Amino acid sequence: MKLDGKKVLITGGARRIGGELSRSMAAQGATVYIHCHKGSAEAEALLAELPGSGHKVFTADFSQPGAAALLALQCGEVDVLINNASIYARTPADLAEEESRRYFEVNFWSPLALMRLFAAPERRTPGVAVNILDQEILRPAVENGIYAISRKALGDATIAFALEHASRNLRFNAVAPGPMIPPPGLENSTMSKVLKSVPTGKRIEPDDLVKTVLYIIENDSLTGAVIPLDGGQHLKNYEYL
Ligand SMILES: NC(=O)c1ccc[n+]([C@@H]2O[C@H](COP(=O)([O-])OP(=O)(O)OC[C@H]3O[C@@H](n4cnc5c(N)ncnc54)[C@H](OP(=O)(O)O)[C@@H]3O)[C@@H](O)[C@H]2O)c1
Repeated sequence: MKLDGKKVLITGGARRIGGELSRSMAAQGATVYIHCHKGSAEAEALLAELPGSGHKVFTADFSQPGAAALLALQCGEVDVLINNASIYARTPADLAEEESRRYFEVNFWSPLALMRLFAAPERRTPGVAVNILDQEILRPAVENGIYAISRKALGDATIAFALEHASRNLRFNAVAPGPMIPPPGLENSTMSKVLKSVPTGKRIEPDDLVKTVLYIIENDSLTGAVIPLDGGQHLKNYEYL
């Protein structure tokens, strides 16, 4: 699919990696629907700098059941869906139930709802969805169990949706990146420790993620792929040092 003239919804599209994705999609001629949660000021600022026209900002809190479905309704049919929003923190596998459910609401149920509505039975046009996951779906870090499971579930849903909707010209793929930029609130020093678990020894450049997403969108033969983009990190066990 060529992006020029297409509508793209990017969740968490206002800042950090999502901001890079929004910029690159607009640069390719797409109309970008920027979803944000707390980043509405950044989203409005980004809106003003994007090339092209028709871009919009939408706000939704994915920890609230039904919020993602409402967002899909507000956006209408889009050609490309990029599920980029997530929450991340140390979340051991025996995390309390209420908090575990919040992780699943944001990291699994909300993107799943967007995928379901993206593939609504009445849809007649081609589309491509890209889920931004994490290499931890393949090798969860110690004490990251709930986070990793919530992202892995979305990875499995990617494959199931790809199979079930391939004949309708709807494609579903995912990227599982390694460390790109430290999570908000964590220092760069954490990154240098994490990099010891990356065989290439280098962080993943956000631009490499953007290029991988563009490759997925443009490659009409690609569906059901979960691409590790992690400098080989998924090839070995690791823990934070
Ligand atoms: N950073 C890394 O090194 C790294 C490594 C591996 C995988 N990833 C994955 O790559 C993606 C982008 O990474 P990132 O570091 O840029 O992500 P991030 O900053 O941790 O989060 C992305 C966006 O998620 C949105 N979000 C958080 N809570 C939400 C909620 N309750 N409802 C709706 N949206 C919510 C936020 O939107 P607002 O800003 O508007 O609140 C935020 O900007 C994420 O899926 C992440 O898991 C990142």
